Amino acid sequence: EPDAIVAALEGLLGGAQAGLLKDRRALVTSGPTHEAIDPVRFLANRSSGKQGHAVAAALARLGATTTLVSGPTHQPEPAGVNVVHVETAREMLDACLGALPVDVAVMAAAVADWRPADAARAKLKKPAKGGKSAPPSLKLVENPDILATVSGRNEGRPHLVIGFAAETDAVVENAVAKRRAKGCDWLVANDVSAAVGTVGGDDNQVHLITADGVEEWPKVSKLAVAERLAQRI
Ligand code: C5P
Repeated sequence: EPDAIVAALEGLLGGAQAGLLKDRRALVTSGPTHEAIDPVRFLANRSSGKQGHAVAAALARLGATTTLVSGPTHQPEPAGVNVVHVETAREMLDACLGALPVDVAVMAAAVADWRPADAARAKLKKPAKGGKSAPPSLKLVENPDILATVSGRNEGRPHLVIGFAAETDAVVENAVAKRRAKGCDWLVANDVSAAVGTVGGDDNQVHLITADGVEEWPKVSKLAVAERLAQRI
């Protein structure tokens, strides 16, 4: 039971550990983004927000002043965390920049890489019965990369910037390259191939990629991954 695990971890943490991140500020992103096609339709992905919300909760338990910028999810707001709700990648970027300066940023959101170039102001309609026309085609444009933007800041860059990477193949190889490409310090790589069932599920099997190398962590609950990551932070 997730609640029992959290209670057990809190018991273990008690005392001195509870204040490990006292006087530190943390920013966490979580969940998917929704990118409007028209007033009723959007592009999204299967992210549940479980991992990002768990990281925010774990950092707050260690005493960090924590802001969680979340896309639309069904996760409850973690206790003691300042939650900013957003829908789109551009709103998420604005909210993140507004939360700086922080000591540590953990970007666990599954930000949509692309959005429709122009969201239609009125609902797109099929032709009237009997009429014929080709289905509309979606023109996509690239969204801002929030992790790369925060990592690349000259002024006010967080001391520690951590990204997540969802990969379906060559997980470690791609993640090592991604850490460099994004300019972040650590990258948490998870295997989201269907066989593992990470997206939307409760468990996660990750590798932690740092400048020093690659660590394989065992497959445990997302809550336990969050706790271990918070301890490392
Ligand atoms: O490039 P990819 O989406 O695989 O990278 C994943 C990492 O980058 C995650 O930490 C995610 O939160 C972040 N990201 C972002 N903004 C984007 C795309 C990804 O912050 N537009």
